[in-house]
Amino acid sequence: MSENRKVKLEIKDMTKLYDNGDGVEHINLKVYEGEIVTFLGPSGCGKTTILRTIGGFLDVTSGDITVDGQSIVALPPEKRPTAMVFQSYNLWPHMTIYENLAFGLKLRKIPKAEIDAEIKKHLALVSMSGTEKKYPGQLSGGQQQRIAIARSLMLKPSLLLLDEPFSALDAKIRQQMREELKKIQSDLGITVIFVTHDQEEAMSLSHRIVVMNKGKFEQVGTPAEIYDNPKTLHVASFIGEMNFIKRGGKTIAVRPENVSVRPGSGDDLDGTVRTIMLLGHYVVLNVQCGENVVKCNVDRELSDRLKIGDPVTLTFNKYSEFDTEAGFTPVAQ
Ligand SMILES: Nc1ncnc2c1ncn2[C@@H]1O[C@H](COP(=O)(O)OP(=O)(O)OP(=O)(O)O)[C@@H](O)[C@H]1O
Ligand SMILES: [Mg+2]
Repeated sequence: MSENRKVKLEIKDMTKLYDNGDGVEHINLKVYEGEIVTFLGPSGCGKTTILRTIGGFLDVTSGDITVDGQSIVALPPEKRPTAMVFQSYNLWPHMTIYENLAFGLKLRKIPKAEIDAEIKKHLALVSMSGTEKKYPGQLSGGQQQRIAIARSLMLKPSLLLLDEPFSALDAKIRQQMREELKKIQSDLGITVIFVTHDQEEAMSLSHRIVVMNKGKFEQVGTPAEIYDNPKTLHVASFIGEMNFIKRGGKTIAVRPENVSVRPGSGDDLDGTVRTIMLLGHYVVLNVQCGENVVKCNVDRELSDRLKIGDPVTLTFNKYSEFDTEAGFTPVAQ
C-alpha cells in the first residue's frame, strides 16, 4: 500500500547524543504524505529528542532528515517546512488570541485582510470561533491547545509536529481533542507526527505507531499489527492488556479476550477462579493457575454460572511466545 505513496519525511540513520551520552541512535523511518505517525514509549525513551531534531530545535549528531527529498538538518526551525506544538506554554499570555495567531503571518508580511480571513477560518477549524479578543488565561487548557494547533496550521506546514499536546487535559477532553485532530488531519490531508506515552491515544489516532524503548525503535506498524503481533516483550506489555505466563525458558503473552474459560478441570491449563468483576457487557475473571494469575474476559452467561473458588480450564486461542528476558517486568496497566 505504502509503496505508491509519496514519502514526506525520511529519517536516515540519525543519531542524536547529548553530552552525557543519552539520546537516540541509528534511527530510520519513512513517513508518507497524509499519515499520522505516533511515537509511543515510556518516559525518557527519546520521543521528544527525535521530534526536536525534526523541528530544528536540536542538531543531529550524525545522519540526515529530509522533507520532500530535501535535507533539512542545516536549516533553523523557522526555515523548515514544519510547525511544532509543545506540551504546554504554547501561547503568549500577554497577547490576545488574535495577536497570538497573527504573529507568524505578520512576520511574513501577509496583508491584514488576508490575516483576518485566515484567523477566522482556522478558529472555525478548531471550533474556537469568536475568541479573537480573549487572552489565553481566559481559556481552558484544552481551548488553549486548540488555539496552539490553529496557529501551527496557519503556517501551512508540510509536517505538523505535536509533542504530547493533550497530556495536561482530562480524559474526556483528550478524547474529544483526538477526534477533532483526526478530522482536521483528514480534512486538510496534512502529515502529522504525534508523540505520546498513552497507548490508547496512539491506537485511536494513528495510521502507524512507532513503539520506542530506551532510545530505539522496537516495532513500527499499524495499530492492528502492533496489537495482534507484538514483536517484542516490551511491545506486548506496553500495548493493551496482556497476561504473561512463564513456561520453561519461554514467556507466553496472551490477551484476556483470547482466553477461553470452561467450568471444571480438564487437560489444558487448570486453575481456580479468584475474582469476578462485572464491567458492563463483559466480565473479567482472574484465574489462579499455579503461580500465575490469568485475566480472562468472558460473557455474562458464563460468569453467572461461576463463583469464586470454582475450578476452571483455560485454553489460549491466540498467543505470542517470546524467549524469557532476564529482568523483564511487564509495564503496569
Ligand atoms: N538537554 C538534555 N541533556 C541531556 N540529556 C537529555 C536532554 N534532554 C533529554 N535528555 C535525555 O535523553 C533521553 C531522552 O529524552 P526525551 O526527552 O527525548 O524523552 P521522552 O521520550 O520525550 O520522555 P517523556 O515522555 O518524559 O517526555 C532521556 O534519557 C533524557 O534524560
Ligand atoms: Mg518528551
